[in-house]
Amino acid sequence: MAFERRANDDAWSEALLSAALIDDGYEVWGLWSGGGAELRAAAVLAYLPFDAELQSICVLPEERRHGLARELLGWIMRRAGERGAERLLLELRASNVAARRLYEGAGFGIDGQRRGYYRQDDGSNEDALLMSRALTE
Ligand SMILES: CC(C)(COP(=O)(O)OP(=O)(O)OC[C@H]1O[C@@H](n2cnc3c(N)ncnc32)[C@H](O)[C@@H]1OP(=O)(O)O)[C@@H](O)C(=O)NCCC(=O)NCCS
Repeated sequence: MAFERRANDDAWSEALLSAALIDDGYEVWGLWSGGGAELRAAAVLAYLPFDAELQSICVLPEERRHGLARELLGWIMRRAGERGAERLLLELRASNVAARRLYEGAGFGIDGQRRGYYRQDDGSNEDALLMSRALTE
């Protein structure tokens, strides 16, 4: 939770994170500092009947722009493919340029958008972009 609060602007609740950690339909992966002292990046992966969904990927603010998310996303794609997922799906805030560039660089394409999906702190809404990438040849 300490990592989540620092790294994720839309931090998950302890109940949701705990459920993801124990549910067989989810995997939570992390990148740790050399000695295993500190979690630097983490991702939550959910398995659907044919596809997998990247539900979260976050890097500590001071660790960003060093390739950690690209490395973790690469691992997630290999892992989900090995477990039989045909596609990796995700959604993101339309304004999240960093995430969008990360995903486009990893071969994800935009499938569509959900208007007003995210509720902002000021009460307004923001669109969600839906993206996916095939995991099989
Ligand atoms: C999005 C996030 C995970 C990227 O993590 P990161 O470790 O900094 O990303 P990387 O260093 O691996 O960058 C990989 C590519 O993503 C893109 N990118 C990452 N941060 C960027 C930024 N601030 N602006 C523009 N592009 C960015 C670039 O294309 C980058 O490649 P490059 O460095 O060769 O230009 C990180 O900013 C984060 O944790 N943000 C808050 C949580 C979040 O928004 N998660 C995604 C929710 S959908």
